[in-house]
Amino acid sequence: MEHKTDSRSHGRSKIALIGAGNIGGELAALCARKELGDVVLLDIPEKEGLAKGKALDLEQNGAIAGYDCNIRGTANWADCAGADVVIVTAGVPRKPGMSRDDLLATNLKIMRGVAQGIKDHCPQAFVIVISNPLDAMVWECARITGFPHARVCGMAGVLDSARFQLFLARELGVSVKDVRAMVLGGHGDTMVPVTSYCTVNGVPVRQLISPERLAAIVERTAAGGGEIVKLMGTSAYYAPAAAAVAMAESYLRDQKRLLPCAAYLTGQYGIHDLYIGVPVIIGRGGVERVVEVELTAEERALLERSAAAVRELVEASKRL
Ligand code: NAI
Ligand code: 2OP
Repeated sequence: MEHKTDSRSHGRSKIALIGAGNIGGELAALCARKELGDVVLLDIPEKEGLAKGKALDLEQNGAIAGYDCNIRGTANWADCAGADVVIVTAGVPRKPGMSRDDLLATNLKIMRGVAQGIKDHCPQAFVIVISNPLDAMVWECARITGFPHARVCGMAGVLDSARFQLFLARELGVSVKDVRAMVLGGHGDTMVPVTSYCTVNGVPVRQLISPERLAAIVERTAAGGGEIVKLMGTSAYYAPAAAAVAMAESYLRDQKRLLPCAAYLTGQYGIHDLYIGVPVIIGRGGVERVVEVELTAEERALLERSAAAVRELVEASKRL
């Protein structure tokens, strides 16, 4: 049966998910369970059936899981019109042996079309980019939409931090719920797990673990995406989707959460004119504020190294 309702006609938020693949499907499932708003799952015409099928399956799931949400699959940008939030996963994921940067040429082309679609159909949206290589993709999305930087950001830090938190929890034999940790920098090999801010419910993690074990966990975190690609032949999707939904929820419900996200910097951390992972506050104003925390000299140097790698990628995308 065709949908007869328009989200905005009954005051619900509207969330457009661009890409109905592995992450897109899980994003839709989480948005529905949390009743964040009505959902549109958009994919290319060749995958319209996949988008429509996932949407219908998830709508039927509402009767069992107990949520009330309209979910529409489509290949038509007009269905995304007026979205409050857009989350972009369009593109190809990594295969074993590939780095995120190997995806640049293919995904850049896709992102250029997608960003134009967002600009034309969702001019007021808060945009969360997930497609890789993340920091270059979010840069390109912001450039093409021309939206204020507060309304365009990238998801990586929440995911990378979750990996860091899990590995620490397993090592220490404590609940993952009590481990807080942050990963900053680019979403690539140069990411910076910030050990000075890791705590188990406020207890600095450095008091609980040897420097050698901590270093091994930092290393595993930086390679955390690749570890899963090697196992599954494609990249992770449950935690990436949950991470982006946490960001979307903070925006829609004005939660003002402090989350590490790829945000546009204008001199913070000594970095200019670049999207890179830093702690930000997300509320109804989008990325309302970049939070500048004190870093050790070593962490600062690592962040600078990461920024240089991201800049190189952005420069490479300008040439494509
Ligand atoms: P997937 O291949 O399952 O889904 C991607 C979907 O995008 C496909 O269905 C494809 O048809 C669609 N698509 C391609 N061009 C499109 C266009 N022009 N318009 C709309 N849809 C289009 O891939 P998956 O696993 O969902 O990953 C998506 C992206 O997210 C990949 O680039 C992956 O590397 C990245 N990723 C990023 C993470 C992060 O932390 N930022 C974490 C995990 C994955
Ligand atoms: C991940 O970190 C590959 O970026 C993807 O899982």
